[in-house]
Amino acid sequence: MRVWSLPALLVFALAPGGAPAVPRAPPTASPTAPSALGFADGRAGQSLDGAWHVIVDPYDNGLLDYRSQPRPNGYFADAKPKNKSDLVEYDFSRSPTLNVPGDWNTQRPELLYYEGTVWYQRTFDARADHSTTPAPGAAPATARQFLQFGAAAQRATVWLNGQRLGAHEGGFTPFAFEVTGRLRPQGNSLVVMVNDTRRPDAIPAMNTDWWNYGGLSRGVRLVETPATFIRAARVGLAQGDAHRVAGTVALDGARGPTAVIVEIPEAHARVTVETDAQGRAAFSFPATLSLWSPESPRLYDVDISAGADRVRDRIGFRTIETHGTELRLNGRSIFLRGISLHEEALGRGGRATSRADAEALLGLAKELGCNFVRLAHYPHNEEMTRAADRLGLLVWSEIPVYWTIAWDDADTLADARRQLGEEIARDGNRASIILWSVGNETPVTEARTRFLRTLIDDARAADPTRLLTAALEHHASGPREVTIDDPLGADLDVIGLNEYVGWYDGLPAKCDGLTWRSTTQKPIVVSEFGADAKAGLHADALTRFSEEYQADLYRHQLAMLRKVPAVRGMSPWILVDFRSPRRPLPGIQDGWNRKGLVANDGTKKQAFWILRDAYRGLAR
Ligand code: GCU
Repeated sequence: MRVWSLPALLVFALAPGGAPAVPRAPPTASPTAPSALGFADGRAGQSLDGAWHVIVDPYDNGLLDYRSQPRPNGYFADAKPKNKSDLVEYDFSRSPTLNVPGDWNTQRPELLYYEGTVWYQRTFDARADHSTTPAPGAAPATARQFLQFGAAAQRATVWLNGQRLGAHEGGFTPFAFEVTGRLRPQGNSLVVMVNDTRRPDAIPAMNTDWWNYGGLSRGVRLVETPATFIRAARVGLAQGDAHRVAGTVALDGARGPTAVIVEIPEAHARVTVETDAQGRAAFSFPATLSLWSPESPRLYDVDISAGADRVRDRIGFRTIETHGTELRLNGRSIFLRGISLHEEALGRGGRATSRADAEALLGLAKELGCNFVRLAHYPHNEEMTRAADRLGLLVWSEIPVYWTIAWDDADTLADARRQLGEEIARDGNRASIILWSVGNETPVTEARTRFLRTLIDDARAADPTRLLTAALEHHASGPREVTIDDPLGADLDVIGLNEYVGWYDGLPAKCDGLTWRSTTQKPIVVSEFGADAKAGLHADALTRFSEEYQADLYRHQLAMLRKVPAVRGMSPWILVDFRSPRRPLPGIQDGWNRKGLVANDGTKKQAFWILRDAYRGLAR
């Protein structure tokens, strides 16, 4: 929930005069994408994770012939020679395998920096009673089937038994295809063409300071539902009333008004509503709940039923708002003791995929004394946001609108809007998430500000209960002063600030005596500061890449930021070292960004303890 305080309103009233009047892009219908089913993990069906056969295909030979024209008999057909004279130049069943979920880069050394297409294939049986539409008059145990993908980095095209189901763009959000009536009892061939080639019109685009791993990086499930099922539901505290629960529900396949029951058994609270002709309903009911917070991450089972369908989610209830430059959680002022992190598995590297991966990373954040994490620079897998709910960590979630994007390209905007919508649809019930971020270090131009304002409008429409932010630009306004006057600040609730004073901008002592000025009266979260350090490299505090330099930078940064009243949180860069092709320095970086407080093998650097002690002091 967002409370506009008077100063912010005044600033907001002034900002249009201050900020260049940049019209918002006309709302374009977000392109139809095969949207994911809510509550898929708890539904009947079967996991399709495990070893999939793969063909590495840098020329897209499985799709295009030697004239780069589409093949009628590409790899997607999963064909077998009909006789000894038949020419078929591939065979999934005799091809190597890769594990799903997982990126391909870290499963085979020759694929580490591979960028292109990999074909995935597996065969599966559909349970006999679900292989076809039920016999006339038979009560369908479950009448509909869907193939759901947790994510495919960066884009995927999917075929079932040689029939193209569709495609999805965006490497970090779920999608699904209905396959009702298309399944065989045995031997269904599922083929997925995954491509992660960077493109200037994609989200993210050509240049990222992380290695954008490719592959079926998250789980795949065959999901079964009744003919009418609960496709989505949003449940939270009613805006402005912490003693009422409110939300919406959307059915798929409803034939006319349908009764929906929403229940919180532990709170002895429930409501019955009827959906409209589109299968939608809004609801609200009184409930006395223990509010969720980092100190007390109380979650409740929320049961929703409609006809033959029943789903359960684990949901925490809390409020988040701004008041001038304050952030308030459940009405109380809060300081975000945070850290940034990539979705890079501790120890093995590569995409983190499992609950264990999530708890290893977020466990380190808890050990650091955090109550907040910035999940950079893309929506992390759902294990991370659910673990944050359980462990009591507030979350900054973001889509990879990062650095240089094709701001004038309508398809790029549509891609960003879709990724934002899919991120909010997946995680709208996660109490831990308090901030949606629409961009990171994007250059201030009219086209960029118009692009991001469209995303802000979309986010506010999709989720009026959370705060909007972005890591904004700033500039030196004097020898000892820095000003944050990005015009986008007028549209946000919280100002994100990435600053590298002491690393890219002077030496650590430059922090001393530096003053920060903002043109908005809003909370500032310092979303990045930091320095590279190779774990185990020891020298004096002016030797770059030594642990001592990094530790000294943290001391100077923390002393500086303590003096900026509008700073109401921070998420220094970064919890753990992560792979980046932009970091080649031999013997120090070797393809890794070393700004982690922890090395990828789990070794904590000196700066870890500096920040841990600072957070202990702030937590008192
Ligand atoms: C930037 C960027 C990060 C990057 C970091 C760095 O601020 O947001 O993605 O890794 O700085 O240079 O290490």
